[in-house]
Amino acid sequence: MSAENTPLKGQFITFEGGEGAGKTTQAKLLCDALEGAGITTILTREPGGTKGAEAIRDLVLGGAADKWSGMTELLLMYAARMDHVEKIIKPALERGVWVLSDRFADSSLAYQGYARGLGAERVGKVHEAVMDGFEPDLTILFDMDPIMAQKRVETRGEDLSRFDAESIEFHKTLRNAFLDIAASNAGRITTIDADEPRQTVHTQILFALTQKYPDLAGRLGSAAG
Ligand code: TYD
Repeated sequence: MSAENTPLKGQFITFEGGEGAGKTTQAKLLCDALEGAGITTILTREPGGTKGAEAIRDLVLGGAADKWSGMTELLLMYAARMDHVEKIIKPALERGVWVLSDRFADSSLAYQGYARGLGAERVGKVHEAVMDGFEPDLTILFDMDPIMAQKRVETRGEDLSRFDAESIEFHKTLRNAFLDIAASNAGRITTIDADEPRQTVHTQILFALTQKYPDLAGRLGSAAG
C-alpha cells in the first residue's frame, strides 16, 4: 500500500439528494461495508445527530410548511449542524473514525438557498461564518426523477414531514439545485442514478469510494473491485 493512498485518517462522507431516493438505506449498507473492511465507521444524520440537534430537528420538521421563514429555518439547520460537527463529527474524525452523514450542508444550500429562495449567496455567507472551511471529503448525490421518488415515499406509507408535503414543482427545483451544486463541486460530489435496484445503487456507491480511495478496492468486496 503506498503511503499516499492509505486512508489513515477519518473520512467524512455525506449523502445528499431529494426525498425518497433511498439515501438512508444506502448509508446503512455502506456503513456495514466499511465496517466489514475493518474501518470503524459511524452513521449519523442531519438535522440531528446529537441530543440538542435532534431537539432542533423536531422543531424544524414538525408543523405547517410556513411555520418558519426561510432564514429562520436556515439558522436552525446551522445551529443543529454546529452542535453535530463540534460534538460528533470532528471528534470522530480526530480518532480516525469514518463518519457517514445522511445529509449535510449541501441540503441547506439546495432546500433553503434554492428551493425556498434565500439565494446561494446568503446561504454561502452563513455557511462560511459557521463552518469556517470544514467540508466533507466525499459527497454522494442521489439523483432521481421527483415523480418516481414521490411514488416511493407514498409506497412506504410514512407520515409526510413538512418537507415531503411540498409540491412536485418544489422537488423539481430541488433536483436541479442539487445537480447545479454537484456541477460546481465536481471534485467532491459524485452523482449516482438512484432510480435503480438497491444492489445496483450500492455498487455505484462502492465504485465511487474506490475511485476516491483506491486502496479500498480489494477490501470492499468484489462489487467494488
Ligand atoms: P428526513 O425525514 O430526514 O428526510 P430524508 O429522508 O429525505 O433525508 O427529513 C429531513 C428534511 O430536512 C428533508 O426534507 C430535508 C430537510 N433539510 C433542509 O431543508 N435543510 C437542511 O440543511 C437539512 C440537513 C435538511
